[in-house]
Amino acid sequence: MNPDHDPSQEAWNHAARGYLAYWSPRFEPYLRRAVDAFRPAPLGPLAVEGCGPGDEILLIARKFPERAIMATDQSPAMVELARRRARDAGLASVLVAEDQAGQVAGRIRQAGGVFSSFVLQLLPNPMGAVADWSRALRRDGSITVLFWPRHTGSSAFSRLQRILEKLEDQRPQWEEPVLEALYRLGLRVGLDELVSFDMEHGSPEECWQQLLDSGPLRAVERRIGKDRLAQAASEWLDDHGFERRGNAWVHRPEARLWVLERSDRD
Ligand SMILES: C[S@@+](CC[C@H](N)C(=O)[O-])C[C@H]1O[C@@H](n2cnc3c(N)ncnc32)[C@H](O)[C@@H]1O
Repeated sequence: MNPDHDPSQEAWNHAARGYLAYWSPRFEPYLRRAVDAFRPAPLGPLAVEGCGPGDEILLIARKFPERAIMATDQSPAMVELARRRARDAGLASVLVAEDQAGQVAGRIRQAGGVFSSFVLQLLPNPMGAVADWSRALRRDGSITVLFWPRHTGSSAFSRLQRILEKLEDQRPQWEEPVLEALYRLGLRVGLDELVSFDMEHGSPEECWQQLLDSGPLRAVERRIGKDRLAQAASEWLDDHGFERRGNAWVHRPEARLWVLERSDRD
């Protein structure tokens, strides 16, 4: 796909190295919790959707050595980083390719499990993605998905999300509709948990800059324009919700973790 025609892909290409340097260490405890909850079927390949620079690939490969892992991301720069890291770790059973999340069933049948972290909330059609992942699974397989839910409470990320929504970056309401549709999708909930850890930044301004340079805000900027994003920055920096602890600015963002099992599982 030509990045000129896909602003989200271009934005994540731009973010890739900074994401690995700044956000990967901050997201590590969340990914560890999700990988801990990932209990795929004993057989079948493991699909990792939207793998970014590959942190979860390394954790999953350590937990399930020898299992075939087929990871994808839409961003060539992210794929390159993830491939290099898998190769440097000597992981011969890992394949990383460019692809859209939510297109697993066309590539993999009888997957033992599907894993995805911090991607589902970015997709234009989260319901379609979950339906696709369900179709790719073996009967005893399961899906583990970690995502940022719609604003829960007063954390810094929730405040930012509310400001962006006010400025017309409307994201679809999808969490409850997906849960309500699960049975139709051949799935049931095995786990639904909120996961939070302290996260530190040098300053609120540093956090904003990293969200823009190395995180999701570049794609938001393409959608709502520079002026509106500058307005969001000013509003958020006036009332960000971080707590000062010594030299650090701390918040405790709440992610949501689902384990979804096939409903026809024994
Ligand atoms: C917040 S990062 C998460 C990366 C990694 N999974 C993690 O938890 O650290 C979001 C990733 O999703 C990818 N992404 C966004 N939209 C996508 C899509 N439609 N299909 C595949 N990947 C997508 C981006 O390229 C980026 O690497």
